[in-house]
Amino acid sequence: MIIGVPKEIMHAENRVAATPEVCARYISMGHTVLVEKDAGEGSFFHDDQYQSAGAQIVDSAREVYERSELILKVKEPQMNKQTGVHEVDLMHPGQYLITFIHPAAPSNHQMVKNLAAKGVIALTLDGVPRISRAQSMDALTSMSTCAGYKGVLMGANLLPRFVPQIFSAVGMIKPINALIVGTGVGGLQALATAKRLGARVFAADIRPAAREQAQSLGAQIIDLNVPDEAAVGEGGYAKALSKDLLAAERRALAARLPEMDLVFLSALVPGKLAPVLITEDMVKTMKPGAVIVDISIDQGGNCELTPPGEIELIHKVHMVGIKNIPGLLPESATSMFALNMFNLVNYLVKDGGFNLDRQDEIVAGILTTLDGQVVHQGAKEAMGL
Ligand code: NAI
Repeated sequence: MIIGVPKEIMHAENRVAATPEVCARYISMGHTVLVEKDAGEGSFFHDDQYQSAGAQIVDSAREVYERSELILKVKEPQMNKQTGVHEVDLMHPGQYLITFIHPAAPSNHQMVKNLAAKGVIALTLDGVPRISRAQSMDALTSMSTCAGYKGVLMGANLLPRFVPQIFSAVGMIKPINALIVGTGVGGLQALATAKRLGARVFAADIRPAAREQAQSLGAQIIDLNVPDEAAVGEGGYAKALSKDLLAAERRALAARLPEMDLVFLSALVPGKLAPVLITEDMVKTMKPGAVIVDISIDQGGNCELTPPGEIELIHKVHMVGIKNIPGLLPESATSMFALNMFNLVNYLVKDGGFNLDRQDEIVAGILTTLDGQVVHQGAKEAMGL
């Protein structure tokens, strides 16, 4: 199979879908790997390392897309602002694409429909189920680990005050209060990072297992008034809440928000739009200079004011909606991502071709477009199809 690795084009995206070491693995399995010139520069992997690994360096993205049967990317296809060409327009019928597509996010609906119309077979990494046999393929877990760590560092950096308790000649300065909402993979890493920085940590999640883990990391738990049976669904995943329960949750959070300095949002029900947990009115009650880091922005965000892809000061609160936080930790993120991707490709490709068994839980979770149709369940629901 001819595998193409284009350079990522999202602003400030430094990751790349394959490292030289992983390219060598693809090649040893009989694949050909085409890497766009300078694709790895942002992660400190150079063209000569890819060449030494046996990959071919190709001058343009257009040529990578033209010649490849399978495209491996980090972020969803998007408009290249420099060339004015959308990445979907570089693709051809029957071509496979594996990347984070986040197909349920409204901002991606048209792009996903365009992929389907093009006849591309698109597979989304955010659909890899959290089951033990898929763990080594779960790039979202790896990237959430990066986003939890780096997201808190970014938040701390924006804060106009110290994070830890400081003893000084003019008296004691209190540590900040950090609230983590959604203590899954990203949230727990955020919690541990905030704790290491010296913050007082608070946490909220609707799943009891997630709350227990947060508590064991030293967080004080905020009760969201959501009964466990309404919160936990099949396979132990969180369930989407009813309107009433969501309103009860917002009330519980609203009561504590005015005390918080750093709020980290990572609440998500897999494959769905992120629940809106913080409204504009709630933001208005926060301390001036506080920070909200909303990593659920790819699924629409947990705060209704989060600016997609941007950092803005709104109602005197710093709102961080950066979509590619792991791209700010490029070496670690790329190394983890590339290995997850390799394990997934290795699972899906047999005897030089794709073998997509739609009964398989992993395939069913990631398949996004096939035979000209959008087939991803969460995306179809979000699109009203
Ligand atoms: P996860 O599934 O491990 O955690 C989500 C948590 O949210 C679960 O513990 C779940 O119980 C909880 N949750 C669901 N509904 C809730 C509600 N109504 N209230 C409170 N908690 C609720 O997900 P993971 O891997 O931690 O990812 C979280 C988010 O981070 C996702 O949206 C993902 O796309 C995003 N992400 C963003 C990145 C970025 O650069 N912006 C990078 C990596 C991940």
